[in-house]
Amino acid sequence: MTVKRETFGSQLAAVAAMASSAIGLGNIWRFPYMAGQYGGAAFIIIYILCSFFLALPIMLSEMVIGRSAHLGTFGAMEKLAPGTKWKWMGLLTVVTPLIIASFYSVVGGWSIGYLWKSLTLSFSASSLEDSTLVFATFSSSVWGPLICFVLFLAINCIIVLAGVRKGIEKFSNFTMYFLFALIVVIMLYSLSLDGSKAGVDYLVKPDFHNLTPKVFSSAMGQSFFSLSLGVGTILTYSSYAHDEGKLVSIAAGTAGFDLIFAVIAGFAIMPAVFAAGISPGQGPGLIFSTLPYIFAKMGLTSPWISALVSILFFLMILVAAVSSCISMIEVGVAYLIEQHGFTRRGAVLLLFFGMLGLGALCSLSFGPLADVHIFGVSIFSFCDMLTSNYLMTFGGLLFVIFAGWKMDKEEVRRQLTNGASGTFASRIFGFEYFLIRYVSPLVIFAIFLTNLAS
Ligand code: PHE
Repeated sequence: MTVKRETFGSQLAAVAAMASSAIGLGNIWRFPYMAGQYGGAAFIIIYILCSFFLALPIMLSEMVIGRSAHLGTFGAMEKLAPGTKWKWMGLLTVVTPLIIASFYSVVGGWSIGYLWKSLTLSFSASSLEDSTLVFATFSSSVWGPLICFVLFLAINCIIVLAGVRKGIEKFSNFTMYFLFALIVVIMLYSLSLDGSKAGVDYLVKPDFHNLTPKVFSSAMGQSFFSLSLGVGTILTYSSYAHDEGKLVSIAAGTAGFDLIFAVIAGFAIMPAVFAAGISPGQGPGLIFSTLPYIFAKMGLTSPWISALVSILFFLMILVAAVSSCISMIEVGVAYLIEQHGFTRRGAVLLLFFGMLGLGALCSLSFGPLADVHIFGVSIFSFCDMLTSNYLMTFGGLLFVIFAGWKMDKEEVRRQLTNGASGTFASRIFGFEYFLIRYVSPLVIFAIFLTNLAS
């Protein structure tokens, strides 16, 4: 079946789309609390090493596969390895992002709820416990979070419905600049607070005393999650890239923006956390229960500034979450259009209802369904754990193995060098190919086994 494929307008547009997919809740919500829980600067250094040696090769592998086939995950595997079982792995990576999108949209919905609370100035400065209670009450109620979740999902689906260039590319081009501008403003504000220096120290002075295998596997998981790897998102976006675009530059640009954003987010959040005298290891509730308290406390002295900062902050989370979530949905949309002849509208509608079902269960798992446990954890945590700890790692592993061992080496070289044959191009290729073929699979496999065993 031949379907006319959409494309991104330029190399910069491809970087913006991929960076917007990468920059999301992973950077603003997950990265600061992971760094807080696993030792600040030491975690960040390991995270950077993981991004470079493990994540970047996966990203390049996904790009090579996607752009070589100009098809989504399932179609690409079928085209590049015809008659083999690889296409089923392509199908797995269609399912994973949809599970992520379901629980991710619940958190995205919370950001809508909190944006509303910021607009109506409803945060209390009385105590951290109060603020934690507000979050617990909100997230465990039925209708508030459900309505916000559906709204969030609907916004995403409308953008995906508009198509690759008119929807995804337009939105991503706008979000990239918007997000960077906002996070820098918030960081500057946070750094100006009394007592913020302790937060800066926490992020820049490494303490390698508490390094456990868990720190390594968490840093790796975080770098995969943050760069949207192992789920076919980067593969699908790359399939919309032009053949002239330089994949190594696109990958470096995407990873660079994502890393810079995560570090700025750390500097936006930790100094404020320390300035308010709160412990950095608060866990996942850090931005929803701790920050509103910090914003409200600032409000005692400067109410308007505090209201403005909190509105901008939750707006930023919302926009970042949308630009990532659309990239997860697009993986499924590409699959349905290419393999089953769906129209874009039909594909988006079908996925909307699928995610609505699973996401609603995730949302209710904070309230009425809190007692329903799968492998000892709530439905939400199960979806999070299953995807972040296992499916993403497994998907990443399969992608590097596919690009490193299954695909024709000359095709991989052509994709990575764009046909250039100079010494520099071949050195870069040699180094990347070595990482893709040996280093990445072995280390990821070792960490994956450690995860399974723990
Ligand atoms: N990278 C996104 C973030 O940091 C999450 C994501 C995961 C997006 C997988 C797409 C696919 O929030």
